[in-house]
Amino acid sequence: MSKQNIYDNDTFFEYFRSSRNNDVNFNDCIETPILLKMLPDLHGKAVLDIGCGMGQHAKQYADMGAGSVLGTDISGKMLAYAKEHNSADNISYLQLAMEDIESIGRRFDLVTSSLVFDYVEDFAGLMRKINLLMKEDAKFVFSMSHPIVTAWDGAYDRYTRTETGERLYANLRNYCVEGRRKVDWIVNGFERYHRTVSSIINALIGAGFIIEECQEAHLSDEMREKYPALFGGTIHRPEFIFFRCGKS
Ligand SMILES: C[S@@+](CC[C@H](N)C(=O)[O-])C[C@H]1O[C@@H](n2cnc3c(N)ncnc32)[C@H](O)[C@@H]1O
Repeated sequence: MSKQNIYDNDTFFEYFRSSRNNDVNFNDCIETPILLKMLPDLHGKAVLDIGCGMGQHAKQYADMGAGSVLGTDISGKMLAYAKEHNSADNISYLQLAMEDIESIGRRFDLVTSSLVFDYVEDFAGLMRKINLLMKEDAKFVFSMSHPIVTAWDGAYDRYTRTETGERLYANLRNYCVEGRRKVDWIVNGFERYHRTVSSIINALIGAGFIIEECQEAHLSDEMREKYPALFGGTIHRPEFIFFRCGKS
């Protein structure tokens, strides 16, 4: 099974690093505020952050009182940044593909992941592995790109626009065709996987989860009006989908 490590590509890493560190970005303005509201109390808890990237979330969880945080990621560059900028005594980082997550061999009070599961081919298999890494009363809270977004195959414009560039409609094609999407985005041949909302939900149920909460990304009109070029499309489609699960 293929494991893409695009974040170790110099061009891709630089693009991600600079946009993630920009004061106004999709992670800090949309993803993180919603995800944080869905988390349980972290005090003293053992947390696993899958696809921790540059470590911003791991540091947040440590600052929120987590007993320990383990951040895993496939990318050596992302982890090097995390170790340099987002370390603490109770955070450890490990280079590990999510496909091999079972090798951790210990159980956690909270498993979390932000915008990483788009990259896994066998989503249902990964959900089963994650379930086994959780203590009986543990929670699993994650975000991923919304299926309306991952349906895009690069062969059509993501938006229909007015002559002045204003986004009129979000375009959607082949939503019902699941599988790999290989597109030119930042670099040639960027790959991620599209699956429908029902596939995601059924994979969670099949892996032994109870879905406690689901959210779709939302943003205030004020932010959209302030940053129309970046956030204008969020009125038409939710960029991300979020779940909080317990074990059934
Ligand atoms: C969009 S970034 C998100 C990073 C971080 N969670 C955040 O919210 O800032 C996606 C991350 O997933 C990681 N990733 C992609 N494929 C992976 C895989 N197969 N196993 C583990 N991590 C992977 C990338 O290296 C990258 O750090």
